[in-house]
Amino acid sequence: MINFKKIIAEKIAKTVDLEAKEIEEYIEIPPNRELGDYSFPCFKLAKLLKKSPQEIATQIHEKIEQGEEISEIKMVGGYLNFYIQPVLFVQSVLTEIEEKQENYGASDLGTGKNIIVEYSSPNIAKPFHIGHLRNTIIGSSLYKIYQFLGYHTIGINHLGDYGTQFAKLIEGYKRWGTEYHLEENPIEELTKIYIRISDLCKEDESVLEACRKNFKKLEEGDSYCVDLWTRFRDLSLKEFQKIYDLLEVEFDSWNGESFYIDKIPEVEKRLEKSGIITESEGAKIVDLEDKGLGVCIIRKSDGSTIYATRDLAAILYRAQEYDFDKCLYVVAYEQNLHFRQIFEVAKYLGIPEKCVNGLEHVRYGMTRLSTGKMSTREGTAVKVSDLLTESISRVQKIMEEKNPNLPNREMEARKIGIGAVIFNNLCSNIIKDQIFDWDLVLNFNGETGPYIQYVYVRTNSVLEKAGYTPKLEDVDFSLLTDSASLKVMFALYSFQDILKTVVDKNEPSILARYLIELSQSYSNFYNENKIISEEKERTNARLYLSKAVGIVLKTGCRLLGIQMPNKM
Ligand code: ARG
Repeated sequence: MINFKKIIAEKIAKTVDLEAKEIEEYIEIPPNRELGDYSFPCFKLAKLLKKSPQEIATQIHEKIEQGEEISEIKMVGGYLNFYIQPVLFVQSVLTEIEEKQENYGASDLGTGKNIIVEYSSPNIAKPFHIGHLRNTIIGSSLYKIYQFLGYHTIGINHLGDYGTQFAKLIEGYKRWGTEYHLEENPIEELTKIYIRISDLCKEDESVLEACRKNFKKLEEGDSYCVDLWTRFRDLSLKEFQKIYDLLEVEFDSWNGESFYIDKIPEVEKRLEKSGIITESEGAKIVDLEDKGLGVCIIRKSDGSTIYATRDLAAILYRAQEYDFDKCLYVVAYEQNLHFRQIFEVAKYLGIPEKCVNGLEHVRYGMTRLSTGKMSTREGTAVKVSDLLTESISRVQKIMEEKNPNLPNREMEARKIGIGAVIFNNLCSNIIKDQIFDWDLVLNFNGETGPYIQYVYVRTNSVLEKAGYTPKLEDVDFSLLTDSASLKVMFALYSFQDILKTVVDKNEPSILARYLIELSQSYSNFYNENKIISEEKERTNARLYLSKAVGIVLKTGCRLLGIQMPNKM
């Protein structure tokens, strides 16, 4: 595909004797296409060339070779505005989509780079809450987008499967195990046991002591404790898997916190060696007060490790195992301090510089239900699997009314219901808190997943109605240079840049917004241009554009984790 920006930069560079790379960075896309397709603000060079923007503009304008890619160059104030050759542009984009099909937008940008994306990471024996849902969705889409851009990606589910809560659960189970039906409703029942034993611990110090002993036993490999822990873990994973199946989310590794226990001594050894560990009241700590980050405990005075220690062991292990260039932690912003601490301590682990620099906390905001606060204790938290199945059944109801004869209704409703929830989690900046409201999530005309799917289905149905799909050779590109068509074309053209910005900022909402804009521009095109008409040539061109939009919408949605229905 023709890189117009680069070509313009090269042409400008020749006239001022500068590097094209630098010029390219200054080139802008005007907010209004009437002002040109690309614009070069000459004042950026004023200091360097010791001339006024006006003089620079004139100099470039006089010397520049327009070439076949550019149709016009206008001088407006200190700006040079470039208009690209529309026919060549349309041809270039559609030819590329024809060649690449569902790989249109892919790249080899990331070749040779290893990217770890850590996401989901729920806690065993605790509910998979709506925050875990959000981070599963965000992480999984980042994973897919990095992969599409050629990076070697590793998806890790860092399960919370270790800690004193298991010692409590074991104690609770020992006392009242037979009263609970773990097989039927594992997470709910385990939560009940956990709440009950925690309350008892508060009343009775000796129970707490028994829990502590269990933890020690668990660490030492006592078979009763380990067997129970394994059972709780397996039961929880089975529950979580139901959610992953609905979302069609996968991981390359399920190494959770427990995986790192035997790797902690090496962490201590390295930190001791670098001389940053100190003792405080019997505990081993790293003092980060001078950085405003408090202290990071490495080992408590009773010899046990904490969450942070296990994270440090994970960093060491991942650096050795995956030689990562980036390790992204998709975790709520509430854990900000924790990550700043461990990233700071990681500097002393003796791992390669690039790994230290590649650690990044991808923070996301909270989700609240429009119906109010949630609490596990009071049983007002929503169950994520219920939320997903409710979305499917709500869609089924809507479709029963709208399109009662739809074939494969159940399967389509699933794609739409799940797609709606996924899109809702990605449509605004991930750092923002959000409110989950069914009316917004499932609004088929709003800025939602179902809206994009609807537009996609429309691109297909128009081809179906025509009864054929034109070949690229049969497309007269000059028939797609009206403003509605060009608007769609520009959106299609920018797809790969959008994906690059997503990984640059670790912000999948940029892709989500893009898909809305592409859908809207196609809807506008559809309303303004009669697609199927008596004029065969025009029909071919417009049908072909519809096909191209369908391809890009489908790929874009796939990268967010959203499947496309065939009919709606
Ligand atoms: N299990 C934790 C939670 O649910 C999230 C783990 C995040 N990842 C990490 N490496 N600390 O809050």
